[in-house]
Amino acid sequence: MSGDKPNGLPDEAQLSKMSRDELVKLGTEMDGVELVHYEERWPVKGTRAEKRAERLVALWFAIAALAGVGFLAAFLFWPWKYEAPHTENHWLYQLYTPVIGATLALSVLALGVGALLYTKKFIPEELAVQQRHDGGSSPVDSATLVAELGDVGARSTLGRRSLIKRTAGLGAGVFGLGVLAVPLGGMVKNPHADSETKDSLWHTGWKSENGEKVYLRRHTGNFHDVELVRPEDLDAGGFETVFPFRESERGHEHELVQALKRADNPVMLIRLRPGQAVTKRAGQEDFNYGDLYAYSKICTHLGCPTSLYEQQTGLLLCPCHQSQFDVFHYGKPRFGPATRALPQLPITVDEDGYLIARSDFTEAVGPAFWERKS
Ligand code: FES
Repeated sequence: MSGDKPNGLPDEAQLSKMSRDELVKLGTEMDGVELVHYEERWPVKGTRAEKRAERLVALWFAIAALAGVGFLAAFLFWPWKYEAPHTENHWLYQLYTPVIGATLALSVLALGVGALLYTKKFIPEELAVQQRHDGGSSPVDSATLVAELGDVGARSTLGRRSLIKRTAGLGAGVFGLGVLAVPLGGMVKNPHADSETKDSLWHTGWKSENGEKVYLRRHTGNFHDVELVRPEDLDAGGFETVFPFRESERGHEHELVQALKRADNPVMLIRLRPGQAVTKRAGQEDFNYGDLYAYSKICTHLGCPTSLYEQQTGLLLCPCHQSQFDVFHYGKPRFGPATRALPQLPITVDEDGYLIARSDFTEAVGPAFWERKS
């Protein structure tokens, strides 16, 4: 805004009596703005062409609203859980990411196209040249600027286009809801609602639902291929990632695949070297089986797999942000951003010599969540 004012500026009383057009004219003169070209888009109001243009803009905003509703519905209700290839619902699972991506993209695109079309079809064509000045704004500058902004609003004709206003509000509103749904979506389902089933945040696939034995199984790359683990399978200093298996799942493709895919199932089975001293966690003194210790593979920082084991120092490294967990001290964090120990799975051997889980983890695995106290 201008710092050098021409003489004879109106005082506050005169300003309050001036019309908006007069204030706009005064403001543009004071700002050294010269209007070189000005042309209304629709000099004759209410023509059929104008109505058509209005409906076209409204159509894009309506598309934005519909796509936003589609995104919200897919985000909340689409069957997103993994389904194995060749199973009935595999195609639905495969469509989840494309559907939420396409609906969100269409919502953003339609909002943008609607706004662009409105500018092209309804904002007057104007070419102005303004000299630049230094300095702050005086009361006169402020009053004229407010008038100019009001004038822009009036000339855009938005005030009298209620169809466009409503559809634009609807499109932007639904899009806003969709954007909010992403961070808030996790709170829509109550993790306490089924806290005793293996599907709640408090449990994992290691939970035995009806007293059935849960074996430690290795992943051979073929989910039909069930290989159970025995203590002698691991050399001293070695480690292996294992998953839960129940006899009732044998031959059931869906269950077998789920056990390997479920995010909180992977467990690192570690065999310490002879003579390596271990400090056990209070209350978990019998969770190991001899030199064999089983820890959740899911980092307690942000849930990456902590898969690098250094057998001499007993440190497990998470490659994401370099947290280190000490296997000699019940998986306690030694370095990095993680603050909680890796949960330990209580294990033993059954009468046939196979390693089994004595129960589920006794605490939630992975990163903390609001309801978790530790
Ligand atoms: S997820 Fe493991 S350190 Fe961040």
